[in-house]
Amino acid sequence: MSAAVGGRPVPAPPAVAATVFGERLGLATRYAELLAGSGVERGLVGPREAERIWQRHVLNCAVIGEVVPAGARVVDVGSGAGLPGIPLALARPDLRVTLLEPMARRVTWLIEVIGELGVEVRVHRGRAEDAAVRSLLGGCDVVTARAVAPMGRLTGWTLPLLRPGGLLVAMKGATAGDEVADDRAAIEGFGGRAIRLYDCGSGIVDPLTRVVLVERRLGTQRPR
Ligand SMILES: C[S@@+](CC[C@H](N)C(=O)[O-])C[C@H]1O[C@@H](n2cnc3c(N)ncnc32)[C@H](O)[C@@H]1O
Repeated sequence: MSAAVGGRPVPAPPAVAATVFGERLGLATRYAELLAGSGVERGLVGPREAERIWQRHVLNCAVIGEVVPAGARVVDVGSGAGLPGIPLALARPDLRVTLLEPMARRVTWLIEVIGELGVEVRVHRGRAEDAAVRSLLGGCDVVTARAVAPMGRLTGWTLPLLRPGGLLVAMKGATAGDEVADDRAAIEGFGGRAIRLYDCGSGIVDPLTRVVLVERRLGTQRPR
């Protein structure tokens, strides 16, 4: 059964969503409706995404929680319409999540949505590489990012936000292996180590959610 938002059908959550979101399934469902409703109307999400909002967006993002340690402080860089940060925060209430996004109209929408969901997620307007952002949000345990920049540039922007030993979780899909091969030297030059690919969401999403994991080396200066 589907709900209709602004004339667009929003599929009901698949049964497996209950295992991902538990008692927060209602909040995840409301977020899916907001994405497919005002998110589409205000140009944050394409109109064709409404019918695949669960598999391609909400669940696809939530499953990266598999690689995020308990209690981590997480910054979602280039959050856009809250992806992957909001599904991750809903699936993992133990995390402290900040959504980082430079575009004013996206930030406005994110603040409205977080207010409506009533969850403890912070929203900050800025660019990952800005000194003010590094000073305010730096030292976090995990950075997440989906569709923000190629691996080399993304690593240069985001490793300085991590504490030494912290983890970049970059959602990269089919391009993951090629991006790592192309940018390995740059990633290591920025202080990245233990670069690996990992597939999240077995039994939940198909295709699996492929991430590139990069640790910030211990004992390195923050790259500039
Ligand atoms: C293609 S969108 C992806 C949005 C969301 N992560 C998703 O997967 O739907 C890229 C987002 O990255 C943001 N962005 C671009 N450069 C950035 C930077 N230097 N720091 C933080 N965010 C940035 C853009 O404003 C945009 O919202």
